[in-house]
Order: sequence, then structure tokens, then C-alpha cells
Amino acid sequence: MTEHIELTHRQQRAFQPNKLSAPRSFCIPPIIQQTANPAPLLLEIGAGKGKHALSFAAEHPDQHLIAIERTRNKFDAFAKLAERQALPNLDAIHADAIAWIVHAIEPNSIAKIFILYPNPEQHNPNQQWLNMPFFEFLLSRLQVGGEIILATNIESYMDNAEQQATKVWCLPNERYKVPQDSQRTHFEVKYLARGEICWELCMRKPAGYNTRFDQWQANLSTHKS
Ligand SMILES: C[S@@+](CC[C@H](N)C(=O)[O-])C[C@H]1O[C@@H](n2cnc3c(N)ncnc32)[C@H](O)[C@@H]1O
Repeated sequence: MTEHIELTHRQQRAFQPNKLSAPRSFCIPPIIQQTANPAPLLLEIGAGKGKHALSFAAEHPDQHLIAIERTRNKFDAFAKLAERQALPNLDAIHADAIAWIVHAIEPNSIAKIFILYPNPEQHNPNQQWLNMPFFEFLLSRLQVGGEIILATNIESYMDNAEQQATKVWCLPNERYKVPQDSQRTHFEVKYLARGEICWELCMRKPAGYNTRFDQWQANLSTHKS
């Protein structure tokens, strides 16, 4: 067991949001500016070509999903379909999710976060989402009772994520096998068709949970349209 797994998140090196510039052409989607916003706000990080985002938004018109993808060609494919479907409850964002979330999302405002089949980062485990100092910032954006859903086909990624969720981030969590007939994302379809096991971890932010970023907020007023 590596040393960092033994530490609680307050002993970890703190993420430094003030060092991140806003992404290029950054502007805040109208849903975040709405003062009276009854729709729960959800995030998807690494949405790929948007298969999950488009079907989730179509099936949950009462929830608003902001889906972020960094890779240009994947985002272009996603944006084309999103434009065609014109779902009022979906924002497709081309950006690095870390910088975008830092600049756009208020503390304690997100009901659910999807991280579906993230890059494995097997040679650079510091870049796995639950190993990053940014994860504490992400938790600060989640509402109490809010959930993070992580899926992967890599058992060692899931083993580490489960351990980090429990020991470092102190989050109640449950691990499942993704059903064989699930088809949420392009990667999920590909892995299940090959007969691989896909894993899912559902983490919940409990009441009384504190992070070092609960009061931290970027100056949103400079980016309002
Ligand atoms: C393995 S793909 C999975 C895509 C999709 N979720 C699926 O399951 O089909 C991982 C995706 O995460 C995106 N990604 C990785 N880091 C990101 C970041 N910091 N911000 C936004 N997207 C990111 C990559 O560009 C890539 O498209």
C-alpha cells in the first residue's frame, strides 16, 4: 500500500485553484446564472462523443447536464449531435474539465458527477481522478448527498479508486459490476462486447463533509454573458 493512500485528504497537498486561468473563450452557461433554478445540475467529465450525455439529457428532462470534453475531434462529433438534438437541458462544453469547473461551478451546487471510462493513466497514476488534489475541489462543488459515478474496465483502477474513496476521501461508496447489456458510452459498448467486466463506483458526499474549498469561488461576474 502506498503512503498517500494512508493519508486523509487534509494531509494531502492542496489543489491550487487560483493558479488556473479560465479556459479559452470561457463563458458561463445561462443555467449557472439563473438565480431561481429548480433543475438539479449534473456534470459529466470526459464525455467523449456524447453518447451518454445525449441519452441521459433526453431521458431526464427535469435535470440539467453539463458535459465536458477536452479532445477537439471527439467534442466536434458531440457538438454536432447536440446541436441536432437541441436539448434545452444539456450544455456541451469543449474544455479541460479541471480549469472549466474551477471557473464556472459554485460550491455545493452539483447533484451528480459522471466520470465514465476515464483515461487509464496506468503509467501516470497521479493523473487518475481520485489520486489528484483536484478531487478535493470537485467534492467541494458537490451538494451534500450528491454522488460521483465512476466507471472503468480496468480492475486495478477500480481497486485504487475504491480504496482512495474510503481511506483518503472518507466517502461512503458502493462498487458494482456494470450489467452486460448496458450501452451508456462508446467505450462501455466496446468493452462489454469484448466480454470484459466493467466496474462502477458510486460515491456519496455525506452530511458534515468539509473541504478546504467550501468557501472558494472564482469571480464569476467577469464571465457572465
Ligand atoms: C477513454 S475516453 C472515454 C470517453 C467516454 N466517456 C466514453 O466512455 O465513451 C476518456 C475521455 O476523457 C477525456 N478527458 C480526459 N481528461 C479530461 C479533462 N481533464 N477534461 C475533459 N475531458 C477529459 C478525453 O479527451 C477522452 O475523450
